[in-house]
Amino acid sequence: MPTPAESPRSTPGREAPRIATRHLLGVWSSLRADPLAFLTDAARRHGDVVGFRIGPIQAVLVRHPDAIKHVLVDNNHNYDKLTRGYDVLRQFLGNGLLTSNGDFWRRQRRIAQPAFHRRRIEGFAEVMVSDTLDMLQRWDDVAGLGHTVDMAHEMMSLTLRIVGKTLLSTDVHDAADQVGNAVTVLNEWADGAIDSLLPVGFPTPGTLRAKDASRRLDRIIGEIIARRRAGEHAEDLLGMLMEAKDAETGESMTDKQLRDEVTTMFLAGHETTANALAWTFYLLSTHPDIERRVRAELDAALGGATPQMADLPRLPYLLQVIKESMRLYPPAWMLDRRAIADDEVLGYRIKKNTLVLCSPYVTHRHPGFWPNPEGFDPERFSPANEEARPRYAYFPFGGGPRQCIGNAFAMMEAQLILAAVLQRFRPWLVPGHPVAPETLITLRPRWGLQMGLTPVAPVAAAAE
Ligand code: HEM
Repeated sequence: MPTPAESPRSTPGREAPRIATRHLLGVWSSLRADPLAFLTDAARRHGDVVGFRIGPIQAVLVRHPDAIKHVLVDNNHNYDKLTRGYDVLRQFLGNGLLTSNGDFWRRQRRIAQPAFHRRRIEGFAEVMVSDTLDMLQRWDDVAGLGHTVDMAHEMMSLTLRIVGKTLLSTDVHDAADQVGNAVTVLNEWADGAIDSLLPVGFPTPGTLRAKDASRRLDRIIGEIIARRRAGEHAEDLLGMLMEAKDAETGESMTDKQLRDEVTTMFLAGHETTANALAWTFYLLSTHPDIERRVRAELDAALGGATPQMADLPRLPYLLQVIKESMRLYPPAWMLDRRAIADDEVLGYRIKKNTLVLCSPYVTHRHPGFWPNPEGFDPERFSPANEEARPRYAYFPFGGGPRQCIGNAFAMMEAQLILAAVLQRFRPWLVPGHPVAPETLITLRPRWGLQMGLTPVAPVAAAAE
């Protein structure tokens, strides 16, 4: 038991442990070379609140669940998104929900929130399943020819198509590769730009390529909005955003605001879920016992019947698998904030303008809350085990008022897709295919995930 004198809470306002460096760039090059290793190691060696300098910027990594809760929930008013990371995203997302701040953000969130109401998104289950079945039909041919697929790419196309239909009533299938390509260019540029020492938007060849990709994306989304302006009302997010009026001023959104929200939903709404699924397939393929258990649950609950929304409560282990996969590979691996005023976290001083880093990747490996942190063990998410942990030991969707608006949407989508795929195929990692996470805006498999597809013998549909 630590004595009160040893507790980090006992000496308020003291300086957090720091990684000392005399280098002009501070820890910039180590952070840039391998951010996951650098941050995990920094917390392991220095503790739950650790300071360092990135170039001229003073930064603090907070790891303890209480510290995460403080920043994201209890004292969230003191932390905004005026950070370099979000400045970069603002270059192409403008002032959408993810990137905006203050009263503007509050108003947009109020307008968008009803579209993500559980009852409303349940109506999307059918599209999620039918688009998955289309993909599986294509996979029949792939498997028949003995070919393999890049699972990361497959999941990206599928979730992109789903977000297009459910939120915009638009089938972006034909545009999928164009959009996917533009998103990849932007993502790669954004990753470099966040770490770069140049001003955001400085016209390097990469920035020019990104601007071009952003223009292409704008054009695709602009066309979707224009088609809808000319057409009929639809019960989707775009329809709601187009009709919504500010209660105070009666103003509706300008085309620019609409475009920012739509682009944000498009990007935030597919790549994260795609990566969560890709990592889940990878983990199942390397943990056959766990895969067998998921299949047994599926067979018992559904027989061969196509999964539907109403089946999900009967697939608790499948949900545990997805949660555990997002613990090890949280698609949003880093949430950054700026301290608006001086503050104190776990007794440590946080000075005004400090960059505060909350990393799900790092906290999800906190040995105080996660024994054998690197092990894949869905039992960690049994109801009893979940209950026993502090809420913010796990935060793949963030927390507090800025918590992911698409949380329930994403979880429903991931469960339905995983169930439908596993009923038909056993994906296996191509031997020798290298696997490692890449820290772009989301945590992707660096070299994709080349997987073979073994068809699964059909199970008789469960008796009513
Ligand atoms: C597994 C999938 C997903 C993960 C892991 C994820 C993760 C997150 C996280 C961590 C945040 C908070 C960022 C911060 O506080 O800095 C966030 C915000 C957001 N997410 Fe998601 N997300 C996912 C899926 C989705 C989906 C499906 C949508 C929309 C359809 C979506 C839309 C948004 C939006 C609009 C925000 C900004 C919310 C606000 O600040 O008001 N996300 N997401």
